[in-house]
Amino acid sequence: MTDWTTNSTDALHLSLVRSSQDKEALGDNESYENFHPTFTYPIYGEDEKIYGYTDLVIDLRFASGSLAHFLQIKYSSKLASLSTLDDVQGTLQKFIPEDYYQSEAEFLARVEEDATSFRPSGEKIYSYTRAVPYSARKGKGVAMTLPEDDPDAITYEVWHVRAVASLLLNPLMLSQATWKTPGFREYHRRMQLFILLYIEAGSYIDEVEDSWEFVVLYEKRKRRTSPDTETYHFVGYSTLYPFYCFPDKTRLRLSQFVIVPPYQHQGHGSALYNAIYQYVLAQPCVTELTVEDPAEAFEDLRDRNDLAMLLGHVTFMAEAFGAHAVSHDGGRVGRVRTLAKGKSAGKLGPPSDRAWLERWRKELKIAGRQFHRLVEMLIQLNLN
Ligand code: ACO
Repeated sequence: MTDWTTNSTDALHLSLVRSSQDKEALGDNESYENFHPTFTYPIYGEDEKIYGYTDLVIDLRFASGSLAHFLQIKYSSKLASLSTLDDVQGTLQKFIPEDYYQSEAEFLARVEEDATSFRPSGEKIYSYTRAVPYSARKGKGVAMTLPEDDPDAITYEVWHVRAVASLLLNPLMLSQATWKTPGFREYHRRMQLFILLYIEAGSYIDEVEDSWEFVVLYEKRKRRTSPDTETYHFVGYSTLYPFYCFPDKTRLRLSQFVIVPPYQHQGHGSALYNAIYQYVLAQPCVTELTVEDPAEAFEDLRDRNDLAMLLGHVTFMAEAFGAHAVSHDGGRVGRVRTLAKGKSAGKLGPPSDRAWLERWRKELKIAGRQFHRLVEMLIQLNLN
């Protein structure tokens, strides 16, 4: 008997499509096409089932930089009765911009055109390099950082799009991109689908709200055949919301955060988080970075990076554990053994010096609950 039911998460195939020339230059183990979402219940309903088709494939592709969409529905057979048949395309198109491509040829022409013309909006706030994934030059366990002009280096850039409100306070920034910059709202509408597909209970932000800020991470690749040609490819993004903090400051809340699957588990999430944290530290008007409803994987990422930052902070560590704590290796968790085990001659005690802790918490702009968890972890590491 024919099974007319399909799991919508399995049926949805996603791809980040590069131009033919950029695709040819990819290494064997580099793939940015044909991956699946984690969730489709916000689109196809709680049980993530689509009824009425066999061999259903929902082929949703994005141009790797501009994220222009192409959508095509394929199947071997469908039920004749329209009343029981689910409307696959009509349901999905409510969640994506209506100008998506339906002609594959037109979409591929757009990809070719975008490859050299697409540039990120906003201000570049952070960059780092990694060895190309097919290069033999890999660090042990951690992706290798290379000088930007090394032929094996790929540069990753974080671009920030400011809130409209912050620009009103500082007219010198008026040339910078904002939520209201022509084209950015449309760009955001193309990337926000990843929030529904990868964050549990994720939802679209309210576009009417002016204060949103965005940080978008891109891979910037030089063409091997013409190194002067640079192409940008979307890796992930985060949305931030500034809350008023008495009397004249703001508290920045990280609201959404996603790295698309082809780039996960390579340290890009950590890099994006660190870019945001460094940005917060550099802004005199921002008092602290908070996180809205962190998923478990994000909490791990935040703990790992915050802890590495504290372990690498020579002054903090020296004061926390006494002068003998300064000689550790620059922030690798696990190397806290260089501390005097079990005994602290510093402010972490026991008992901890509360005024000292609060001074550092403010200085490092870490939210109260998170800072106290980190301090607990440091004490545990020292005791072990
Ligand atoms: N080689 C192998 N593994 C590596 C490398 C490397 N070069 N670099 C880092 N890793 C490991 C890390 O040690 C870490 O391991 P762990 O998961 O066992 O702890 C893991 O990879 C993840 O670290 P990163 O690579 O820095 O993070 P990633 O880029 O994978 O991003 C994130 C993590 C954001 C959770 C991503 O998986 C994601 O987007 N998930 C779906 C959406 C989501 O859950 N977002 C957070 C929602 S909460 C919120 O929005 C506030």
